[in-house]
Amino acid sequence: MRQKEISSTKNSNNSSPKTNTDNKTFLADVLKGLSHHPQKTLSSKYFYDEKGSALFRKIMALPEYYLTRAEMDIFQNKTAELITALELDKAINYDLVELGPGDGTKTIHLLKGLLEQGYAYNYLPIDISQHALDGLADMLEEQVPALSVKALQGDYFEKLGILKSAQRPKVVLVLGSNIGNLSDAEAATFIRQLSDNLNPGDKILLGVDLIKPKEIVLPAYDDKQGITAAFNMNLLERINHELGADFDLSQFEHQAVYEEKEGLASSYLVSKTAQTVTIDGRSFRFAPGESIHMEISRKYNDTVIKQVLAGTDIHIQSRILDSRELFADYVLARS
Ligand code: AVI
Repeated sequence: MRQKEISSTKNSNNSSPKTNTDNKTFLADVLKGLSHHPQKTLSSKYFYDEKGSALFRKIMALPEYYLTRAEMDIFQNKTAELITALELDKAINYDLVELGPGDGTKTIHLLKGLLEQGYAYNYLPIDISQHALDGLADMLEEQVPALSVKALQGDYFEKLGILKSAQRPKVVLVLGSNIGNLSDAEAATFIRQLSDNLNPGDKILLGVDLIKPKEIVLPAYDDKQGITAAFNMNLLERINHELGADFDLSQFEHQAVYEEKEGLASSYLVSKTAQTVTIDGRSFRFAPGESIHMEISRKYNDTVIKQVLAGTDIHIQSRILDSRELFADYVLARS
């Protein structure tokens, strides 16, 4: 989501070494974020280098991180319900597009279910990482040999724009609560861009984490083993390695905050002391207790979704919840 936001940067872990242009943008974003007053900020889209991606895979397996298991519950145990909710036509050949597919462990249940029920479709995963796409295609060839897969490497909206002219009806999967890492304004922009690249009648399957009590959300973002803390801290390490900065990681600590009423989880790195960090000849002062805002993880309900969709051509068709009602996959349709 966020082409460059929800996922193209996210999945850049396996792609070729960073170009100077990439590093220039990275540096400019870091300098701008740390100059931001009163709240210093860094963008979570830079979390996913090779180490960050490995840490995120560990997070998904943590006992506290319920999101991945909840969405898996929907795909694995409510496949028939999901297919019914999509309201597809067996006489039509669809393009089933997935933005940032990951390893496909959730999607495979839907792909198999659709084939078993006699739906006709091509599966088109789009990702910035050719390496990730190759792994996914190999897995699918082995596990679902009857499936037609066309992996597309590159920018989400560029690839969707090309597919738009093919005129085959589309179902676009945006799973994993990736939209939750965008502000509501960014999410609305993302949906608008998505809508611009779809035709009337096309569908979106959007995975979102639901608003729920802090006793469930906070541990998911502040796990006992400290993996989430390491995940956040890794961005400082990345800035040190790639931009020649001198962050002293031992002088920062991870903090997770959740505003339950609003459904907004945020993570911060808090400076333990008064200190100065230098990046590319620029100095940034931290007072003791001063924080860097690292990430938002927005939790949704119907009201929030409707706000994000307001003024777009996209409306809610239905939603499927997991058995514990922690997570939802919304079926959205383009008018
Ligand atoms: C990728 N994204 C949906 C995760 C989330 O839950 O916001 C990223 C994450 N951050 C900390 N833990 C997981």
